Amino acid sequence: MTIFTLILAIANLLLFLSKASSIDTLTLSQSLPDGTTLVSKDETFELGFFSLRNSTNRYLGIWFKNIPVKTVVWVANRDYPLKDNSTKLIITNDGNLVLLTKNNKVQWSTNTTTKASRPILQLLNTGNLVLRNDNEDNKNNNKSSNNNNEDRFLWQSFDYPSDTLLPGMKLGWYRKTGLNRRVIAWKNWDDPSPGNFSWGITFDSNPEMVLWKGSFKYHRSGPWNGIRFSGAFGGSNRLSTHPLFVYKLINNDDEVYYSYSLTNKSVISIVVMNQTLLRRQRNIWIPENGTWRLFQTAPRDICDTYNPCGSYANCMVDSSPVCQCLEGFKPKSLDTMEQGCVRSEPWSCKVEGRDGFRKFVGLKFPDTTHSWINKSMTLEECKVKCWENCSCTAYANLDIRGAGSGCSIWFGDLIDLKVVSQSGQYLYIRMADSQTDAKDAHKKKELLLIGTIVPPIVLVILLAIFYSYKRKRKYEEENVSVVKKDEAGGQEHSMELPLFDLATLVNATNNFSTDNKLGQGGFGPVYKGVLAGGQEIAVKRLSRSSGQGLTEFKNEVILCAKLQHRNLVKVLGCCIEEEEKMLLYEYMPNKSLDSFLFDSTKSKILDWSKRFHILCATARGLLYLHQDSRLRIIHRDLKASNILLDNNLNPKISDFGLARMCGGDQIEGNTNRVVGTYGYMAPEYVIHGLFSTKSDVFSFGILLLEIISGKKNREITYPYHSHNLIGHAWKLWKEGIPGELIDNCLQDSCIISEALRCIHIGLLCLQRQPNDRPNMASVVVMLSSDNELTQPKEPGFLIDRVLIEEESQFRSQTSSSTNGVTISILDAR
Ligand SMILES: *[C@@H]1O[C@H](CO)[C@@H](O)[C@H](O)[C@H]1NC(C)=O
Ligand SMILES: *[C@@H]1O[C@H](CO)[C@@H](O)[C@H](O)[C@H]1NC(C)=O
Ligand SMILES: *[C@@H]1O[C@H](CO)[C@@H](O)[C@H](O)[C@H]1NC(C)=O
Ligand SMILES: *[C@@H]1O[C@H](CO)[C@@H](O)[C@H](O)[C@H]1NC(C)=O
Ligand SMILES: *[C@@H]1O[C@H](CO)[C@@H](O)[C@H](O)[C@H]1NC(C)=O
Ligand SMILES: *[C@@H]1O[C@H](CO)[C@@H](O)[C@H](O)[C@H]1NC(C)=O
Ligand SMILES: *[C@@H]1O[C@H](CO)[C@@H](O)[C@H](O)[C@H]1NC(C)=O
Ligand SMILES: *[C@@H]1O[C@H](CO)[C@@H](O)[C@H](O)[C@H]1NC(C)=O
Ligand SMILES: *[C@@H]1O[C@H](CO)[C@@H](O)[C@H](O)[C@H]1NC(C)=O
Ligand SMILES: *[C@@H]1O[C@H](CO)[C@@H](O)[C@H](O)[C@H]1NC(C)=O
Repeated sequence: MTIFTLILAIANLLLFLSKASSIDTLTLSQSLPDGTTLVSKDETFELGFFSLRNSTNRYLGIWFKNIPVKTVVWVANRDYPLKDNSTKLIITNDGNLVLLTKNNKVQWSTNTTTKASRPILQLLNTGNLVLRNDNEDNKNNNKSSNNNNEDRFLWQSFDYPSDTLLPGMKLGWYRKTGLNRRVIAWKNWDDPSPGNFSWGITFDSNPEMVLWKGSFKYHRSGPWNGIRFSGAFGGSNRLSTHPLFVYKLINNDDEVYYSYSLTNKSVISIVVMNQTLLRRQRNIWIPENGTWRLFQTAPRDICDTYNPCGSYANCMVDSSPVCQCLEGFKPKSLDTMEQGCVRSEPWSCKVEGRDGFRKFVGLKFPDTTHSWINKSMTLEECKVKCWENCSCTAYANLDIRGAGSGCSIWFGDLIDLKVVSQSGQYLYIRMADSQTDAKDAHKKKELLLIGTIVPPIVLVILLAIFYSYKRKRKYEEENVSVVKKDEAGGQEHSMELPLFDLATLVNATNNFSTDNKLGQGGFGPVYKGVLAGGQEIAVKRLSRSSGQGLTEFKNEVILCAKLQHRNLVKVLGCCIEEEEKMLLYEYMPNKSLDSFLFDSTKSKILDWSKRFHILCATARGLLYLHQDSRLRIIHRDLKASNILLDNNLNPKISDFGLARMCGGDQIEGNTNRVVGTYGYMAPEYVIHGLFSTKSDVFSFGILLLEIISGKKNREITYPYHSHNLIGHAWKLWKEGIPGELIDNCLQDSCIISEALRCIHIGLLCLQRQPNDRPNMASVVVMLSSDNELTQPKEPGFLIDRVLIEEESQFRSQTSSSTNGVTISILDAR
């Protein structure tokens, strides 16, 4: 009996203790010393002191109580770390929070001036830490707490976000006081002080969400169109209208803010700014895996960053070049890196026949910095308003719901555009009359037809192909003239190129049997063949679509056959018959570099001295293409699979000149191909379609890193960040440990200083600006000497599309279940 009462007493005591330790309020007379916490009523959030990793600094913050991965969502003293654990949190009579050391020194405090009477502090279930007057009518504060009434709190942590936006938090402005709630990333993982990557709402007439890198815009959501932000991926994409999330943008006389909520209260989700990745991430907690899962990210790709293409240009990540002028516009300049487009026909303000509007479908609305809105105007009034002012360049409905309402007009050049493929979002851009809707009705009808019959995404692909075709023709013309110039530079005539007939090659390759297929290059498959005399050859069967005349083709082949260098694959001849175009090369029994480099057993054959030799020899081959040959060939597709190895593992560059033979542009309207070599292409090539010898230098830089690391630039995700190989190398470089990049299997053979020098040279080749990159002549010198090297600047394309691929994986998972995300990721426990 006594034992039983004792147990009961202990149980009661424990109950009391556990209750006592999970209080959610602090009163004037109390303090919160280091080591104790406040816990919200529903036990979701906890407020207390914490340290990060092995740092001894203490911070006051809020985290999820029940999530084993410590996830801090708010930090009070971001800028003022506490040096020991003797600090306590108190409330002052005047209604402020203060962190006080044991010597009564104020380490940090809030700053309210509102009159307080008996203030108390409470951690609400929403994760909001509030200071309020201890009035009767505030007692019942358990559920729907931080609703509209901004003035009911003396102070609230939701007004001073750290790097995390919780559901229900407001991002943006409270007009009455000028309070601007912005989310600012931590400097890095160990340091919660504010970094320079932030997220907020612009205060322009037509507000939008912006990510800033320092004071520069880095990503823009596009203005709200009544349903979603106009730059959100919509249409077929489930993510932006996901049933789990409700997004809103409120813009009235009192406030302008963004916030979101979850339709399922048992799901935990946050949005967090990540300085390391320069991403805003929306994460969902996956209880059964015990991890956060990335759900959405911004920016998603290069086209999602701020204004990559300049004015009046559309950014399409899967086309090449990525930047395309809008219809009715032409590039400002083809020769320079100058971005953007201009009207292709002269435009005169308010002059009949020289002024009108063309309707564009599914464009992200332009930057609203210079814009004006009226919520009650009709579209027709809006058009008139725009027409009357010569600086007005576009108009659109402010709200696209229903038949559309309101008016939004833009002044000055329209920037940061891209197709987001959602219907119902029309932008009317001002241009010469002859190009506007009325005169273009026929074309428009066609486009509309396509738009209604096929899903928008297909439309985008079609548009991409169409544009890249148009663009291609332009470059082709350019290219041809370059060739002519080259030829005019004087050349002796005329070497005989062996012409083979089709029958011979059919015989030699066993009728192009799959057994003979060596591989599939960008321009077509390659087969092994044996000629009657026993000579082994490689036959490249060019894809049919190579769009070039026979004579031109033959001329190009002759030119390339003349290029003779130890480190170039020899062109033996060609075959032009019927629709077929084929090239004959010497056969390389050891196949290509990638078959060694990325194979766990064969890579061991390539010890350091062999790899270094391959690097130097490849560099010399490329230099020959760029400079020593009269032709000045830009390879444009340099990569490990295009470096063949002979019996002695000497490298020979293959596929050179093919870009020329196949008519200027290597893309050939084949989008798979663009993606395939995406990881090797220089930024200026991908984005602007501008190539030069410096773009080859960029590709060489990647090749170099691949040879040293034994890893592919893409296809690899590094455990703690989603950098590609370039980003990984740059990170290690900045951290002063570039040696970690070196392939493990080189451990014994590697001359560290040589390898480090190579990495350094690689990073020089990968610099973002083409002008900063060395030319191949310098690279060859650098590889063979000990001259001091300059410090590399940040490389191009630090982050590739890994994250996006993650997302699409995610998307395909969710869309395969009938009930969307709630089933596939949250019900598995
Ligand atoms: C404070 O730090 C001291 C020394 O590091 C440690 O012994 C003590 O347990 C800590 N107290 C609390 C409440 O964390
Ligand atoms: C944390 O610990 C790791 C490994 O013990 C060490 O390399 C690192 O320098 C430490 N960081 C700080 C900030 O002390
Ligand atoms: C606190 O108030 C002072 C004086 O009004 C002001 O200068 C300071 O910026 C404020 N600090 C914060 C964190 O609001
Ligand atoms: C909230 O307060 C009301 C009124 O005091 C009470 O009836 C209700 O049970 C409380 N709800 C929760 C979840 O504590
Ligand atoms: C940024 O994201 C990476 C990868 O998810 C993570 O390792 C890192 O800790 C994050 N940084 C911050 C400051 O949260
Ligand atoms: C802030 O931006 C500058 C310039 O872009 C950069 O050098 C610096 O490292 C950034 N600061 C942080 C904390 O990342
Ligand atoms: C909410 O999510 C939980 C899992 O976290 C699931 O069990 C429940 O069915 C969901 N509720 C609704 C209404 O979808
Ligand atoms: C989560 O767990 C499931 C099985 O429980 C597994 O299939 C899935 O890959 C895990 N996801 C992550 C991101 O670890
Ligand atoms: C907005 O448009 C309506 C209708 O044309 C007009 O009455 C109103 O004055 C306009 N408001 C402003 C601020 O221009
Ligand atoms: C046109 O709009 C601009 C920008 O709002 C304004 O500065 C200018 O005065 C307007 N011009 C006319 C003629 O209304």
